[in-house]
Amino acid sequence: MTAKQETLAALFGPAQVIPVLTIERLEDAVPLAKALVAGGVRVLEVTLRTPVAIPAAKAIMAGVPEAIVGIGTILNAGNLARAEAIGVKFGISPGATPELLKAAAASGLPFAPGIATASELMQALAHGFNLVKFFPAEQSGGINALRALAGPFPDARFCPTGGIGEANAKGWLSEPNVVAVGGSWLCPAAEIRSGNWAGITAICQRTMKSLKPA
Ligand code: 3PG
Repeated sequence: MTAKQETLAALFGPAQVIPVLTIERLEDAVPLAKALVAGGVRVLEVTLRTPVAIPAAKAIMAGVPEAIVGIGTILNAGNLARAEAIGVKFGISPGATPELLKAAAASGLPFAPGIATASELMQALAHGFNLVKFFPAEQSGGINALRALAGPFPDARFCPTGGIGEANAKGWLSEPNVVAVGGSWLCPAAEIRSGNWAGITAICQRTMKSLKPA
């Protein structure tokens, strides 16, 4: 693993779960992050899916120092540069274009490209990324697909995301090549819209409890 990917693994491994945040209103950013942290979830992926994503990530970094903030839905080199410019700790992409892999390899930001096939994983590995997002995880064949990839790619490590929730997170995390899992189940859009911060903390607490050994 490169040093950048070691850094990423050191953030993701202890976190176990990484919420994928879609923040529509800037004023939700800090209370949402506080609710997640209160539930034991500190590593947060703020997706570039809304106009307020970058200011929201900045607000969380300033207002919730316990949170470890990264930017997700990085689709191109420009998005990567925007994430780097505000000093987030990591970047995540749902995919991996040659342009993005090249820019990410040249950047100092710990970064997980997204892969769903052997060929995409080979491209990521060729650029030094052996901790990758497996996306969309359930829809791309689930745990069986991941096990199949483990054969030819024993050094690859994964953060599966897509279709993961309270019911199946523990199963994914039991796979030896899974570092952490990501997903939106920890911060449902309806709870954010209604400001149900206690409800989000409760989901996080329930999830973290469910991951403990029986
Ligand atoms: C992502 O970008 O990682 C996905 O939207 C998360 O997938 P999920 O909503 O199924 O958790």
